[in-house]
Amino acid sequence: MKRVSLTQYLVEEQRLHNSIPAELRLLIEVVARACKSISHAVGKGALGEVLGSAGSENVQGEVQKKLDVLSNEILLEANEWGGHLAAMASEEMETIHPIPNRYPKGEYMLLFDPLDGSSNIDVNVSIGTIFSVLKAPEGMGEPTEQAFLQPGTRQVAAGYAVYGPQTVLVLTTGDGVNCFTLDREMGSWVLTQRDMKIPEDTREFAINASNTRHWYPPVTRYVNELLAGKTGPRGKDFNMRWIASMVADVHRILNRGGIFMYPADAREPDKPGKLRLMYEANPMAFLIEQAGGAATNGTQRILDIQPKKLHERVAVFLGSKNEVERVTGYHQQ
Ligand code: AHG
Ligand code: MN
Ligand code: MN
Ligand code: MN
Repeated sequence: MKRVSLTQYLVEEQRLHNSIPAELRLLIEVVARACKSISHAVGKGALGEVLGSAGSENVQGEVQKKLDVLSNEILLEANEWGGHLAAMASEEMETIHPIPNRYPKGEYMLLFDPLDGSSNIDVNVSIGTIFSVLKAPEGMGEPTEQAFLQPGTRQVAAGYAVYGPQTVLVLTTGDGVNCFTLDREMGSWVLTQRDMKIPEDTREFAINASNTRHWYPPVTRYVNELLAGKTGPRGKDFNMRWIASMVADVHRILNRGGIFMYPADAREPDKPGKLRLMYEANPMAFLIEQAGGAATNGTQRILDIQPKKLHERVAVFLGSKNEVERVTGYHQQ
């Protein structure tokens, strides 16, 4: 396959489909460069003194890892001076981060989960970065949290990096999903999978089964049917995977199908699950739909949800279309 770099891909998309304005192309390349830096830091592990706790807590009530904080700083510093952004928002920052006045402002707003799968950092299991791009509302003036509260259908780009055996960057700008692998010798992102498509059926599901006793009936019914296997109502055996890094579970599903579930459960009745809408569920839902899959919160399409708060949580069922439709149907009965 002729080597196509991320830059060449983005320039050709712009020329052929006029779908990626130069400012957005710039932004994507800056984020990709930041992910390269994060990959480098992750790869050092104990040798780079990036493991362990940072001794601080984030707005989620989670103890921050050193890499949570470092990855967040890398993304902030890489994107502040470029002139393509009005503001940024992150899992690791309580409030939005307007671009400092000493830098030019742009029309885009970048949201990110700088380090996804933090519980895996210290045990050398794949982790990643998730990002989402929105346009600043016309005439916004000073950036506000309110300006970020746009439904996922308004995203102009979304993607994730996985820091695993390979470092990959998976990206959509609304014209399909493409995967780039980091060539560490050249320091460049090389197109390795074009127009990824998720099989509509699957035999593989992903859920944290230690929460079984807390699930609500539709999830219990759906998972029990999978566990009943060949002799049960589904008439086939299923396999289970749970990596506890959303990026790694989603990447597997994009490659070979599957359904990923992080449902609301009785542990915290006032919180619809653990995952965050703006910088986990929305970007992943955009990618999954662009690859022919589906993504709901059990009752509605994730991309249609009107956000009320920057760090709001949402239940997530995403992946192979027929399975997501089935479990969503159980919620509506
Ligand atoms: P983060 O590390 O950014 O806080 O996200 C972790 C998320 C997600 O990546 C993963 O699917 C889920 O938490 C795992 O949750 P459990 O540890 O409850 O299984
Ligand atoms: Mn995360
Ligand atoms: Mn995170
Ligand atoms: Mn976290």
